Amino acid sequence: MELNRILLGDCLDKMKTIPDNSISGCITDPPYNYEFIGKNWDNNEIKRRLQNVESSNSMVRNIPYGSGLSGGVRNARWYEKNRNNIKEYREWIESWGAELYRILKPGAFALVFNSSRTSAHVQVGLEASGFYARDTIVWRRNSGIPKGLNVEKKLEKIGYENPEIWQGWHSALRSEWEAITVVQKPLINNYINTLQISGVGLFKAENNDTSGFQSNIIENIKRDKKDKFNTHVTVKPLELIIKLIELIIPLENEKHIIIDPFMGSGTTAIAANRLGVDWIGIEISEEYRQIAEKRISNDLLKNNQTKLF
Ligand SMILES: C[S@@+](CC[C@H](N)C(=O)[O-])C[C@H]1O[C@@H](n2cnc3c(N)ncnc32)[C@H](O)[C@@H]1O
Repeated sequence: MELNRILLGDCLDKMKTIPDNSISGCITDPPYNYEFIGKNWDNNEIKRRLQNVESSNSMVRNIPYGSGLSGGVRNARWYEKNRNNIKEYREWIESWGAELYRILKPGAFALVFNSSRTSAHVQVGLEASGFYARDTIVWRRNSGIPKGLNVEKKLEKIGYENPEIWQGWHSALRSEWEAITVVQKPLINNYINTLQISGVGLFKAENNDTSGFQSNIIENIKRDKKDKFNTHVTVKPLELIIKLIELIIPLENEKHIIIDPFMGSGTTAIAANRLGVDWIGIEISEEYRQIAEKRISNDLLKNNQTKLF
C-alpha cells in the first residue's frame, strides 16, 4: 500500500486496491448531495453553478453546491425529483460504504460529515453497507448565515399590499451545525477482543486537561485562513479534523493508517501529518489533488518535516 499519497480517481475504484481489514479509521467529508450519480463528478458544472450565484444578491449564494436547497417551483415534479435524488444519494453512499467497510479493521470508526438535512441518509446508507450506527456528532460552527426566503422582502418586491404582517417570517432556520455521522465496523465479540486484534474501537473521551468528558457536541473551533491558491469551497477547519483523529485513533500504542476517500483540499492529510499518523487520500478531481498536495507540502515545510511531493 502506498501511504501518505493522494490517489486520483473515484474512491469506489481506488478503495478496491486496498487490502481487507487494513485501515484503522476514516474521517471524510463527501459531497452533501450527489446530483451526478452514474456520471463523472463534474467539477466544471460545480464551477458553473457557483459562478451563476456569485453575482446574485440573494442569500442563496452562500449555500454550498449540492446542499439541495436551490430554487425551483415546488410542484409534484420538484418533490419527486428530490425524492429520487436522495434515494440515489443513499445508494451511492451504500456503494462506497461497502468498500470502506471491507478495508476497515473490525471496530474501526468512520466519521462522515454531512448536512443536518441529509445526514439521516448517510447513516442509513452506511448501515446498509454493514456498519453499526453509534452516534451523530454535532459540529457547531461559530457562524451560520441565514439562508432561504425572507417572505416580507419578497412580498414587498412583488407589490403585496401589507408585507409587514410577515415581518420575521422566513423559509428556513439559520443553519449553525453540521452532522458527523459516527459508524463502526462491528466488534469481534466485545471491546477487549477487538482491541487485542485491531487496536481500535474506543473513543479517547478523557484527556489529562480540564476539558472534561468529551460530549457529542464539538464547538469553539477556529476557522482557518484559506491560502489564495486554495479554491476549494468546503474546506474543514484543521483543528476540528485533528480533534476527530485524536478521538478515534490511539496514537501512542501502535502504527495506524487512516483514510479519507473524499480528500478535497487535503485537510485530513495535514491533520494526520501533524499527529504522525499514516494516511491514504482519494480525490476525483486533478485540480483539487494538486491544491491538496501544495497545501500538504507547504504545511510539512512550515513544520520542518520532509517534503512529500
Ligand atoms: C466536501 S469536499 C471535501 C473537502 C475537504 N474536507 C477539505 O477540507 O478540503 C468533497 C470532495 O470529494 C471529491 N469527490 C466527489 N466524488 C468523489 C468520488 N467518487 N471519489 C473521490 N472523490 C470524490 C470532490 O471533488 C470534493 O473535492
